[in-house]
Amino acid sequence: MYERFAGQWWDPRGAFVMLHWLAAARAELIPPPRPGAVLVDLGCGAGLLAPHLRGYRHIGVDFSQEALRQARKHGVRAIRGDVLAVPLPDGCADVVVAGEILEHVHDLPAAVAQACRLLRPGGLLVLDTLADTALCRLVAIGVVERVLGLAPRGVHDPALFVDRRALVRECARHGVRMALRGIRPSLADLLAWSVRRRASVRMVPTATTAVLFQGAGRKEG
Ligand SMILES: C[S@@+](CC[C@H](N)C(=O)[O-])C[C@H]1O[C@@H](n2cnc3c(N)ncnc32)[C@H](O)[C@@H]1O
Repeated sequence: MYERFAGQWWDPRGAFVMLHWLAAARAELIPPPRPGAVLVDLGCGAGLLAPHLRGYRHIGVDFSQEALRQARKHGVRAIRGDVLAVPLPDGCADVVVAGEILEHVHDLPAAVAQACRLLRPGGLLVLDTLADTALCRLVAIGVVERVLGLAPRGVHDPALFVDRRALVRECARHGVRMALRGIRPSLADLLAWSVRRRASVRMVPTATTAVLFQGAGRKEG
């Protein structure tokens, strides 16, 4: 599916529009880098995070050749690979990002193990994904895909939505204590965007992590 819509990655009103908004929100969780800091972006897609980062050596890993080609144009050192078996050494990253990828993998513990393996002690894991709840199935598929058209129809398999407890537990097993918070698009921005009065939509915190949520945590040591 990502290959089919590849021409729309960087279209701010295209099939992946929400990923642009989410990249901006994700970047807010990433601290300014120390000199030479490395950020590994798992499932980097076309590198939508790149414009929001300053000073990191941004390494992206993805399956999609076309997405990686576009990511390279935006300064990402793009590597073709599986997030379940990342071809990078242990402890190589100051920051590991897993943005909108965990809800696409068949083996959550393996994906978490890889993310944590790549982090140096004290390094930061930042992620955002979709929760394994009935509400999320309704909102992400019923509303976002089918009614609002803010993501390609069929891009999500609800069977892969993420069990928040399992996610936190797996991260802890690898020495990363995660804090989660729910986010959603600002409704005022969404309205303004829909009548072309805004170029993008800000994501804002919300009381529940039962739909779309972010996580951040440092690796002990
Ligand atoms: C929803 S997109 C997110 C892209 C990017 N993180 C962003 O937020 O703009 C999911 C990406 O994960 C990639 N992907 C899915 N499963 C993967 C896997 N097992 N290994 C590597 N990449 C994968 C897809 O090719 C796609 O580019």
